[in-house]
Amino acid sequence: MSSDASTPMDNLSHEDRSFTPDPAFARDAVAQKTLYAEADADRLAFWAEQARELLTWDTDFTQTLDWSNPPFARWFGDGKLNAAYNALDRHVEAGNGDRVAIHFEGEPGDTRTYTYAQLTEEVKKAANAFTALGVAAGDRVAVYLPMIPEAVITMLACARIGAAHSVVFGGFSADALRSRIDDAEAKLVVTADGTWRRGKPSALKPAVDAALADGRSTVETVVVVKRNGEPVDWTEGRDTWWSDTVETASADHTAEAFEAEQPLYILYTSGTTGKPKGILHTTGGYLTQAAFTHRNVFDLRPETDVYWCTADIGWVTGHSYVVYGPLVNGATQLIYEGTPDTPHQGRWWELVQKYGVTILYTAPTAIRTMMKWGEDIPGGFDLSSLRVLGSVGEPINPEAWMWYRRVIGGDRCPIVDTWWQTETGAIMISPLPGVTATKPGSAQVPLPGITADVVDDTGAPVGDGEAGYLVIREPWPSMLRNIWGDPDRFVQTYWSRFEGMYFAGDGAKKDDDGDVWLLGRVDDVMNVSGHRLSTAEIESSLVGHPAVAEAAVVGAADETTGQAVIAFVILRGSAAGEDKETMSETLRQHVGKDIGAIAKPRKVLIVPELPKTRSGKIMRRLLKDVAEGREVGDATTLADGSVMNEIAADFAK
Ligand code: WTA
Repeated sequence: MSSDASTPMDNLSHEDRSFTPDPAFARDAVAQKTLYAEADADRLAFWAEQARELLTWDTDFTQTLDWSNPPFARWFGDGKLNAAYNALDRHVEAGNGDRVAIHFEGEPGDTRTYTYAQLTEEVKKAANAFTALGVAAGDRVAVYLPMIPEAVITMLACARIGAAHSVVFGGFSADALRSRIDDAEAKLVVTADGTWRRGKPSALKPAVDAALADGRSTVETVVVVKRNGEPVDWTEGRDTWWSDTVETASADHTAEAFEAEQPLYILYTSGTTGKPKGILHTTGGYLTQAAFTHRNVFDLRPETDVYWCTADIGWVTGHSYVVYGPLVNGATQLIYEGTPDTPHQGRWWELVQKYGVTILYTAPTAIRTMMKWGEDIPGGFDLSSLRVLGSVGEPINPEAWMWYRRVIGGDRCPIVDTWWQTETGAIMISPLPGVTATKPGSAQVPLPGITADVVDDTGAPVGDGEAGYLVIREPWPSMLRNIWGDPDRFVQTYWSRFEGMYFAGDGAKKDDDGDVWLLGRVDDVMNVSGHRLSTAEIESSLVGHPAVAEAAVVGAADETTGQAVIAFVILRGSAAGEDKETMSETLRQHVGKDIGAIAKPRKVLIVPELPKTRSGKIMRRLLKDVAEGREVGDATTLADGSVMNEIAADFAK
C-alpha cells in the first residue's frame, strides 16, 4: 500500500476503548440490530422496502435494481416521484405544515423561521420563477450561494421542475465557477450579492460577473438574492433580483413526477487529475438512502428533534444532510450562515443552547479547532439538549473523539463516525446509535444493505488486523451514476482498479473484531479541513503562472486541518532573480484566485530542483517527509541524491 495513505491518525492500532450503548437509549432506538439481518437476508428487498416506506411514489416501481450494464446502475427504474414533493408538500398534506423546517440564524444575528408550509410555498414560487426564466426538466442550474434559506429553496425548486442543480461552493473562485458552468452547460445561475464572514460583508456577485464577463457562456440569466446589501454591478438583460423574480411569482405549483433516474444534481469534486469530476446523482435511489441513513444513523425523531449539520451546501454533506435527508424525513433543523468564532468562540454552543439542538453533525477539523480554543468555551453553555453527535469528512483521531464525547456530549451522547463520499451520496460505514458499541476513531461497520470490504492489492479480502483498500462490492441506491459527460473516466476511476468492485480511493484496516478504520486517501487527493483537494489541480494552477517551471504539491499532516497544502516550486530562468518570499506569496495568492482560498498552499517553497527518479517521476513521498518534519526516507532511486538535502535544509529555515 502506498505510503501516501499514512495520516496523522494512523497510529490507531492500540485503541481499545469501547462504549456500549446506554440500555434506555438502545431499547427505544430508531435503528434496531435486526436491520442487519433483514438486509443480509435479501439486500434488494430491504432497499425496496426502505424506498417504499421512506418515500412517496407517484408510480410504484416493479424493478429494484437494474445492473445489466455495470457499472451503470438503475435503481427503482420504472418508478416515478418528485423530490421536492417528498421533501415538502407531503408533510403539509399529512398535517405537519406548522412544523418548523428551518430555523435560520445569520452571522449578524438576524433570524428567520420557515415552517414546512412556508418552505413549500417559497419553493413553489421559485419553481414558477425558474420555469418562467426558461428552465425546463433536464436543464442545469448553477448555484453559488451562501448558507441562507434561499440556497435550500433554490435546490428544491430545481428538483421540483426536474432541472439538475450544480452547487458551487461560495469559496471557489470565478475561474472554478466558470469551468463548472461550462462543463454542465448551465442556463441559470442563482447567487447573492454576498454574505457575512467574521462580521464583515463578503462578496459573491463579483465572482459571477468575472466568470461570465466574456459573454460567451451558456448562462442566460443570473438571479441575485439580496443578502448583505453591498452595491453590485448589474448586467441588464441578464441579471435579475430574487425579490423581483421569485418573491413575486405565484405560489401555485403542482409537482410533476419524474423517473427515478432523473438527474437530481451534479456536484464537482477533486480527483487525481487537474480537472474536477462532475459527480452525477439521480432521484429515487439517492433520496432513499439519504433518508434511510439520516433517520437511522442519527436516531431521528422528526416530531421532537432539532437537528444541526454544520456543513455548507457547497459540499455533499450539505446536499444529503442539510437538504434532502432531513427534509424528506420531515425534520426540524438549524442553518447557520457564518463562522464559528463570530462574534465569539462560543457561537456554536450558544446556538445549541438557544435552539435546543439535539443532534449535531460536524467535522473533525472543527472539533480540533474547538479543542484548541479550550473546553471552558463550550463549558459556558447548556448543551444538555444534545443526544447524538456525528462526525464526517476525515478520520477522527481518538483524542478529538474523546473530547467530543466528554466535553460536547457530556459522556452521554453516542458518537457516529460516518464514512462516505461525494460519490457514495450517503453514509456507508457508521455505527448505529443504540446498537453499536462505539470505538474512538473507527467508523466500524457497513450500514445494513451496504457491502463494504477491505481488500489487498489483488482484490482479496484482508484478514482481521490487516490493512488494504476500501471497496464496495455491490451497487447501492445512492451511488453516483456517472461522471457528467465522461463515462470513460467514471469506469476508469472507480471500477477498473478491482474487477467488479467500486474503488473508493481510501486506505482502511480491519481490527481484530473486523471493524473498519479509515486511514486516509491512497491517491493524490488531499483532505484539508474535510475538503477534498487534488494535488494535480494545484500543481497545474502553479505551473500556469508565468514564473513557474515545475511544481510538486503534497498534503502534510496538520494537527487542526488534518492535512495542509505544501508546494515545492522551481522558478523559470526569467524569474530566478525575484525575491523568494515575495514570489512565494504571489504564488499562494495565484492559487487562491485560480481555485479558491481553501486551495491556497500553507507554504510555497522555492527550490532549485525537485526529487525525481531516473525516469523523471517526482517522488512526492520524499517531499512529504520534509513537509512533515521527518527524516527523509529511502532516496536511493533518485537521479540526483543531493537534491533532498538541499530542500530539507531550505524547508527548515
Ligand atoms: C474522507 C465527504 C475517514 C475519505 C462526505 C473520503 C472520511 C473523502 C470520513 C470523501 C470518515 C469522509 N472517516 N475519512 N468518517 N468521511 N472521509 O467527497 O477520504 O468531500 O474518501 O465527502 O473524505 O470526501 P467528500
